[in-house]
Amino acid sequence: MHNGPVGVFDSGLGGISVLRCLLEIMPEENYIFFGDSANAPYGTRSDEDVCNLSEQVFDRLLDMGAKAILIACNTATSAAAKKLRLQYPRLPIVGMEPALKPAAENHKGGRIVVMATPVTLRRQKFARLMAQYAEDSDIISLPCPDIVSYIEQGRLQDPELEQYVRDRFASIGGSPVDAVVLGCTHFPFAADIIQKAAGPQAVLYDGNLGTSRELRRRMDRCGLLTDRTGKGTVTLLNSAGEEQVRRSERLLYGAQNH
Ligand code: DGL
Repeated sequence: MHNGPVGVFDSGLGGISVLRCLLEIMPEENYIFFGDSANAPYGTRSDEDVCNLSEQVFDRLLDMGAKAILIACNTATSAAAKKLRLQYPRLPIVGMEPALKPAAENHKGGRIVVMATPVTLRRQKFARLMAQYAEDSDIISLPCPDIVSYIEQGRLQDPELEQYVRDRFASIGGSPVDAVVLGCTHFPFAADIIQKAAGPQAVLYDGNLGTSRELRRRMDRCGLLTDRTGKGTVTLLNSAGEEQVRRSERLLYGAQNH
């Protein structure tokens, strides 16, 4: 079992930003990444829909022998992780959460913007997280559902995306932002554009490294770390077919290799 693959899943290509981190900290593991681009975006769907879609992806990953699963999607984590953990009590399941904690700790009294999908921002889980830090800082939640579609279409440098992000920041008024939490795993692929819109003083946070480390800890505790040495394999799958698999490869390895 400990030499089986690690399952990683997202509504689409965003989770590749987390897989990049996993490959850095656990290169010897085998990974199966499943992007559900045929059903993306999840972030504007009903909670029930997101839950059902996540369950279907879980079944696929488990059929392929996944020994642990990282839900590399804030949206699916907030809508489905609790249910999935009840369904699979022995399986290590690690999910994403907007990295508000480090942002709030490093910018006490500051203005912190949390960018995420509407599903993530409207869930109780996020309200509780925000309540923990709301006294010390000015926390603004900024739903940005459209960024996901630009990333899904490979339009990472599109001027329209730039305009969209600028407009989202304009909607929260002009005073300078100290920190931006990228609360959706697609958003690191638009980090340059977000930085430009937020201003050079803004520090960007994502939860990718912290979550990857948490998965390693959980796997270690369960005796599920591989004893192989050397590089493991990466299998990229996508419900939308080959073109999205090619895009996933480009995002993971960089355009120069493909
Ligand atoms: N990548 C996902 C997340 O982290 C959501 C994208 C979507 O709306 O499908 O929230």
